[in-house]
Amino acid sequence: MTTTDPRVADGDARGQELSAADFRHAIGHFATGVTVVTSVGIDGGPVGTTANAVSSLSLDPPLILVCFDRSSQTLEAVLAHGAFAVNVLGARQQHLSANFARRGLAAAWDGVRHRRGWTGSPRLDGVIASLEATVEHRLEGGDHEIIVGRVREVETSGDDAAPLVFWRGSYASLGGDPPAGSLRRGA
Ligand SMILES: Cc1cc2nc3c(=O)[nH]c(=O)nc-3n(C[C@H](O)[C@H](O)[C@H](O)COP(=O)(O)O)c2cc1C
Repeated sequence: MTTTDPRVADGDARGQELSAADFRHAIGHFATGVTVVTSVGIDGGPVGTTANAVSSLSLDPPLILVCFDRSSQTLEAVLAHGAFAVNVLGARQQHLSANFARRGLAAAWDGVRHRRGWTGSPRLDGVIASLEATVEHRLEGGDHEIIVGRVREVETSGDDAAPLVFWRGSYASLGGDPPAGSLRRGA
């Protein structure tokens, strides 16, 4: 392994408590896509949160996992409703990422075009893919909870729109379709 960061290179540091800032900084180098995970609230209204701690888990059966902060209101709705949808954002949908990063805000849905999917969970218009799942497992993960869902329905956009990417705390793009705003280059 090659590293230039003495906090990581120093063998003496092993076993010491790692700071949240160092962990966040290091894992931030792992580029991810950005999704809006949606479900149905107790009042029947749409709920959703921006999430990048999302991963494919299994092909057979088709499983996906999402890591939710324990305090997430969307998590509460997902557990009560038993289903959710993962909406994968395109490079031009950075505004939706910011919109749904606001906690439990019903107003977040103002002007957001969507339709209800098979489980009732909202599928956002214009996303590059959506995957609808029912909750299979609920696992503890420190200050987060891991929700494993069985994927029931999928939909992908017909075009080649680039995905929205999150990398080192900023939005980025794979190219061709740069997101408006905070694209940060280099180190
Ligand atoms: C790019 C990005 C990725 C995020 N990923 C996650 C995530 O994977 N899990 C999570 O719980 N919160 C994540 N958040 C933070 C939530 O979107 C935010 O805390 C939101 O207010 C939670 O809303 P809720 O309480 O209504 O669910 C992310 C935010 C941003 C901007």
